[in-house]
Amino acid sequence: MSEVLVIEEIPCENGDGMIAKVTINRPDKLNALNDDIRTRIKKMCKWADENDSIRCVVITGAKPNPPPEGKRSKPHSFVAGADITEFVGKGSEEIREIFRDNAIEAIWNLKKPTIAMIDGFALGGGCEVACSCDIRIASDRSIFGTPEIKLGLIPGYGGTQRLVHLVGYGRAMEMMMTGNNVSAEDAYRMGIVNHLCAPENLESKTMEIAQTIASKSMHTMRVAKQAIRASLDNGITDGVEFEASVFAKLFDTEDQKIGVQAFLSRSEPEWKHR
Ligand code: COA
Repeated sequence: MSEVLVIEEIPCENGDGMIAKVTINRPDKLNALNDDIRTRIKKMCKWADENDSIRCVVITGAKPNPPPEGKRSKPHSFVAGADITEFVGKGSEEIREIFRDNAIEAIWNLKKPTIAMIDGFALGGGCEVACSCDIRIASDRSIFGTPEIKLGLIPGYGGTQRLVHLVGYGRAMEMMMTGNNVSAEDAYRMGIVNHLCAPENLESKTMEIAQTIASKSMHTMRVAKQAIRASLDNGITDGVEFEASVFAKLFDTEDQKIGVQAFLSRSEPEWKHR
């Protein structure tokens, strides 16, 4: 049986370091997140954060397998949600345990930069995986949505919180209250998606952005992510205070000196904290 989570390490163009391309690989079930996938995502996050060579994590869904003879092909999917079959017969206590400290939180808490590369359905937990990444790049045939209301549920992987920050209060309400699908075009207009591409350009566009991110100082990258995240947790006054403090601390790092000197001498910076 093939692995449900496939990790490829793609070399960074500017020398050392790798981009981890992580594929959720359960295409016959539209890459729905079952217990096995969630456990492996958590392990992958720990591995990526502890592995100094990993400079960016790209998360995607496996393409459909060729259909058996006479059968229709399954649709393209990033992730079509949590595995609904695993909801059967479970009560609140068991579900609370499963959803506590979950795989989507592990992605959200990664210190490394993360990109969701989306081709097809990003529904329910799939939309939440996408929203837990720092950046979303999607094919123009992708479909987003939070259909949980149709199952008598609401998003349970932080969707009620994270989606609001991307699309705003009213649009998040409409998505979650109607359960209606959102086209890739609308998702782009609403701010769910950073870039839209033709399916054949999705990988190259995503890798172009991943390579750009991976070429920066990893220490500065971590601080940038921390400071931007602070805007979600703090009011603007505390947030600006936090930014001022971490910004100043960067002046004690080698990479700040390397970056400024490289600009002044018109050369490429060679970061110490790769
Ligand atoms: N959990 C478990 N299995 C799922 C799934 C999910 N979230 N989403 C899709 N699948 C499975 C289907 O049961 C089907 O399995 P089968 O071929 O063994 O019967 C397979 O994936 C293909 O899906 P199918 O429904 O046949 O494809 P479709 O093209 O007709 O419809 C969707 C695609 C995405 C519209 C439909 O699968 C769907 O609505 N999925 C659930 C989305 C959802 O509610 N997600 C939130 C969960 S909280």
